[in-house]
This record gives sequence, C-alpha cells and structure tokens, in this order.
Amino acid sequence: MHLLPSGICLYCSVAICSFISRVDSSWWHMGALGSQVLCHNVPGLVPRQRQLCRQQPELMRVLGAGVADWLAECRHQFRAHRWDCGSGARERALLLGRLLLRSSRESAFVYSISSAGVVYTLTRACSQGELASCSCDPAKKGSSRDSKGSFDWGGCSDNIDYAIGFGQAFIDAKERKERDARALMNLHNNRAGRKAVKRFMALECKCHGVSGSCTVRTCWLAMADFRKTGDYLRKKYNGAIQVVMNQYGTGFTVAFKKFKKPTKNDLVYFENSPDYCIRDHEAGSVGTGGRLCNRTSRGVDSCEVMCCGRGYDTSRVSRMTKCECKFHWCCAVHCKDCHEVVDVHTCKAQKSSHWLDQT
Ligand SMILES: *[C@@H]1O[C@H](CO)[C@@H](O)[C@H](O)[C@H]1NC(C)=O
Repeated sequence: MHLLPSGICLYCSVAICSFISRVDSSWWHMGALGSQVLCHNVPGLVPRQRQLCRQQPELMRVLGAGVADWLAECRHQFRAHRWDCGSGARERALLLGRLLLRSSRESAFVYSISSAGVVYTLTRACSQGELASCSCDPAKKGSSRDSKGSFDWGGCSDNIDYAIGFGQAFIDAKERKERDARALMNLHNNRAGRKAVKRFMALECKCHGVSGSCTVRTCWLAMADFRKTGDYLRKKYNGAIQVVMNQYGTGFTVAFKKFKKPTKNDLVYFENSPDYCIRDHEAGSVGTGGRLCNRTSRGVDSCEVMCCGRGYDTSRVSRMTKCECKFHWCCAVHCKDCHEVVDVHTCKAQKSSHWLDQT
C-alpha cells in the first residue's frame, strides 16, 4: 500500500493515512491541502488531470477550497441519518477514500454533489473575477425577451457553461481512463450533478424608468443558492435507480423490471448499501456509536433507528440559550442569557466481538 505524501497527513492521523491508498484517492483530497494545492502533491490525479492542474493552478485552488462547501451541503442533507456524509476528520478520510471504490447509493450522491459543487464554485469564482480564464457570460449581450416582455442584458450573468465544460474535462478524466462499469456509473452521476446546478439558474432583473415604472428592465442570469441543488440531489438520492450493465457493456438497464428507466437527471447505483450501523472500513461505514439521537422522534433520527437497537446513553448537559427576548422600538431585539438543562441521547457503540479489541 502506498502512503500519501506527507502533506496530507497534517490533516488526518497517521493511522487513517494508512487506509488511503493511491487507488482510492481523487481530486477530492485537494480540499485537505488548503492553499498548498501543488499539482504533484494531490494524490490520485490521472495524467490528464495533472496536466489541467498545471495549466490552471489558480483554478485548482478554487476547487480545493470548494470541497468544504459541497461536503458541508452533503452533511446538511444527511445530518439526521445513520450515514451522515462523514463529520470528523477521521470519518472524512474514510468517506473520501472508501466511497470512491463503492457503487452504492451514497457513492452516487457524493459523486453528483461533488460534481455539482465544482460547477457552483467555479462559476461563482468566474463571476467574481477571481480567475484569468473566465468571467461573466460573454454571450449575454444586447436585448432579449421573457414572458414579461423585452429586457436588456446587463450586470454579470453567471457563465455556467464554462464551469460545466471544465468540470467535465477535469473530473470525468479519471473515469474516462478507467472505462469499467463503475466508471460508467460515476460519469452518469457526475453529469446529473452538473445538470442539477444549471436547473436552478434564474433571471434576476432590475427595473428602471420613471419612478420605478419598469418600462426598462436590465436582467442577468444567476445561479440559485447551492442549497437548492442540495435539496434536489437529495430527492434524486431517495429515488435513485438500481441498475446493471447491459449485455454489451455500453450502458445500463434497470436491475428490476418494475423500475423506471433512469433519465440523465436520475442518480444510478449498482450495489446495495450497508446499514451503516457498525464500523466497517471496507464498506465506508464508521457506525453510529456516539451519534446523537432523538428519543421522541419516530423518524430516521430516532434512537431506535439511529442506534440500530443497541440502545443509547443519556446525559444531562447545561447550555446557554437566548431567552425572554423583547422587541424594542425600533428596531432591536434584546434577549437574556439563560441556562437550560437538557438531556442528550447518544447511541451506544457496538460490542466488540473481536478478541483483539477486548483486551
Ligand atoms: C425530536 O423529534 C421531535 C418529533 O419529531 C421534534 O419535535 C423535536 O424538535 C426533535 N428534537 C430535536 C432536539 O431535534
């Protein structure tokens, strides 16, 4: 097993680094490198990716910084679930490494949201003038029409096609090299992620004219908040379609006849997920031991479901909250700091069955 270059070990313990080999590493690790993204110290880039990295080092720093954003969105979407998209540094390393090698529903989601994240991050950087290679959409010039009538293009329209093109060239390069079933699955989910961002582009306008009469409108095309993409992909995760390779190895067919055929917007996966109850490095599961659960909920965050029937510990913690808030004319709200004592419930860890762990 190859170890990562020492740089990345600053961000995770030595024990974890030994889990990440070169085979299961990817551009995702750029997030851990901070501003130190040098094209030779990102493990797991294929030659084409390394070439693009050398051509556009600034852009790579933008993508590296963006990893934290799409990871945060992934965690938000799964915060109340057994699989929570990794939270601690240890979990993150596991997540990044292992999910790459799986073809589960969770892998499908992570591929799609990371690919969407690249489009979002890059488009925003282009619009903010952070990169020499792109800027606002140059095609949005002159005048145009929408349902409310004609308008003039103005301001800065997000140049999402540039980011989609670059994302495709850079991220898909790895899968184009592998050309196996999993690569085909990743390509499909990467594209679904990119399309998801574009779906929420909307026209924003400003009115001009006598006392805001809106006789003249200036408009630009802007991306929506990334949360919208996250919510959408989360729905696509719920409805993800299990597929198998077709007999020619050129595409998918549904795994079960009653399933609908996946469209380009759907997420696809091959293998069933583990239940994520117990720690299993191979499966990319860190288990739910120590996770918070909700004793009164009947959903996936309930102690019953979250702790997989192992039971939970309850501890009493006191915390500060804002209370007795009063509104003062005008316009301020003043609150007191109050002590609040609450019970928190955390899942028991699994009982170790391995003789080595019992010593
Ligand atoms: C626990 O679940 C209940 C019922 O779904 C909900 O009303 C409550 O806000 C939840 N508590 C926490 C701390 O999330």
